[in-house]
Amino acid sequence: MVDLSADIGIPLKNPLILTSGILGSSAHLLKRVASSGAGALITKSITEDPRVGHENPTVIEVSEGLILNAMGLPNPGVDIFLNELETLEAVNLPIIPSVAGYSEDEFGRVASRLEDAGFRIIELNISCPHSTALSSKKVIAQDIDKTRRVVNAVRSVTSLKLIVKLSPNVTDIVEFADVAIKAGADALSLINTIEALEVDPYVEAPVLGNVFGGQSGPSIRCIAQRKLTDIALAMWKGEIERVPLIGVGGVRTPKDVFRFLLLGADAVGIGSSILYEDLAIFEDVIEGLEQIMTDKGYDMLDEFRGKVISQILDMTI
Ligand code: FUM
Repeated sequence: MVDLSADIGIPLKNPLILTSGILGSSAHLLKRVASSGAGALITKSITEDPRVGHENPTVIEVSEGLILNAMGLPNPGVDIFLNELETLEAVNLPIIPSVAGYSEDEFGRVASRLEDAGFRIIELNISCPHSTALSSKKVIAQDIDKTRRVVNAVRSVTSLKLIVKLSPNVTDIVEFADVAIKAGADALSLINTIEALEVDPYVEAPVLGNVFGGQSGPSIRCIAQRKLTDIALAMWKGEIERVPLIGVGGVRTPKDVFRFLLLGADAVGIGSSILYEDLAIFEDVIEGLEQIMTDKGYDMLDEFRGKVISQILDMTI
């Protein structure tokens, strides 16, 4: 038996995490995820007040493996979210609320409510590329000063473990990683979706109700791997502080998870691929990962985690 245990500031039975935005704001769905085999789940992003989300269509599959969404952070608001969770019987995996907001104060208030309700760790979703309806304006995670202020604001009002979800839609993601860590992030997750848009050539109009969306699915995996590598290299070189990394983006198979771990991820998010594989993906990927490790003679993740980062360090300038 191989040991799949992982650590992102809290211990996990395995490194697979349901990423935010897929399932997970109702007790019923959280329970389904809890029995899926995932090591942890990140809920849909929760704001202070309820949000209905953007106009339909909010999710489209442009081609196999290329998904666009502009959901608009629909959620029932923190009060109803907490009431809903009270109806959930104890589940055997960490639940990590994802928090979104319009201002640093809102992030702080929602985080405090979650801490008071007994949560130990949250993710700050500062990187949804289309959080404001019909707007192409840049979001928090694309502005270094706003990133610092939001993370600082939450850090100063709670002692929760903070995961900060970074945007790929920046010139230098390492700069944002550094600022988030210095402002109080205990871990980083990356990447959120990539700014994208689709046009219907027959109707001659944008396809998504919100016009602007974010690309996810297997088509973005190599981009996510590159962004993770940039941050891991900076950490390995001692240029920025080392904190746990959660690699997210297009993960669908056990080999994909193995790739992210080789690139230094401490845990790996699975999101859009659930649309193709359903929640069975967690058990399938765990089984496949165990098989890869057994075939290669590895007993635990630390025996190979970051192995390719060490190689890249030797190969590049
Ligand atoms: O539209 C959405 O709710 C997506 C959020 C995100 O990408 O973080």
